[in-house]
Amino acid sequence: MDKPFIRKDLSRPGNYYRLLVQFQEPYLTILLSVKYAKTEVDMENAIIRCILDRHCCRDFTDGEIPEEDLETLVEALRWSPSAGNLQPWFFYIVKNKDVKKRLAKAALGQNFIIDAAVLFVICAIPSQSAQVYGKRGSELYCIQDTAAAAQNLFLAATSMGYRACWVGAFDENKVIEALELTPEKRPVAIVPVGPGIKNEKTTERYSVNKICKVID
Ligand SMILES: Cc1cc2nc3c(=O)[nH]c(=O)nc-3n(C[C@H](O)[C@H](O)[C@H](O)COP(=O)(O)O)c2cc1C
Repeated sequence: MDKPFIRKDLSRPGNYYRLLVQFQEPYLTILLSVKYAKTEVDMENAIIRCILDRHCCRDFTDGEIPEEDLETLVEALRWSPSAGNLQPWFFYIVKNKDVKKRLAKAALGQNFIIDAAVLFVICAIPSQSAQVYGKRGSELYCIQDTAAAAQNLFLAATSMGYRACWVGAFDENKVIEALELTPEKRPVAIVPVGPGIKNEKTTERYSVNKICKVID
């Protein structure tokens, strides 16, 4: 084997230095993380690797998502946690180009979503949560539940080699119109998923010290 090309990739913020060891075989890329400061990340752990590799894509390419992969993504949504296991959600899986265009308009002209193979529209059903948890259910739990579902979907898609984005900037009424939603459903997130180009510009994160406090 040829000598690997080693590059210290410091673009990912936080306390990690990542060693990117790229062998000349085109498909073999080994990502290693080394201990730095007080934090250690287990890059052998597929979920952790997926969390760290996940990034929003706004550059989708042609290509479909086969039915069996769509089923897997729906399972990732379905098995998300929810307060009291009430599952106060409904998911639209939009493949239709005209509806995608209407959703892009609703999303304040974020036209990149039209190019994604599929748009998942994640809706909360606040009244379902309110039945058990009252105002806390309708205002907080159902939003948390659907956010957990969106993240499950995002991570599952990433792990399967698809790209995704989380789109929350939209006119709710226009999404309601585009999908002819019944009044109990509140659209919470649009998640475009499909083949796409990896966003090489990784985003920054605050330091651990700024956002965490350990209480022994
Ligand atoms: C609630 C929420 C709403 C968001 N809305 C949008 C959006 O409307 N359009 C967009 O391109 N990205 C949107 N994002 C993606 C964020 O911009 C992105 O997650 C953040 O910049 C960090 O980048 P990364 O996900 O690539 O690490 C949203 C993310 C969240 C969690």
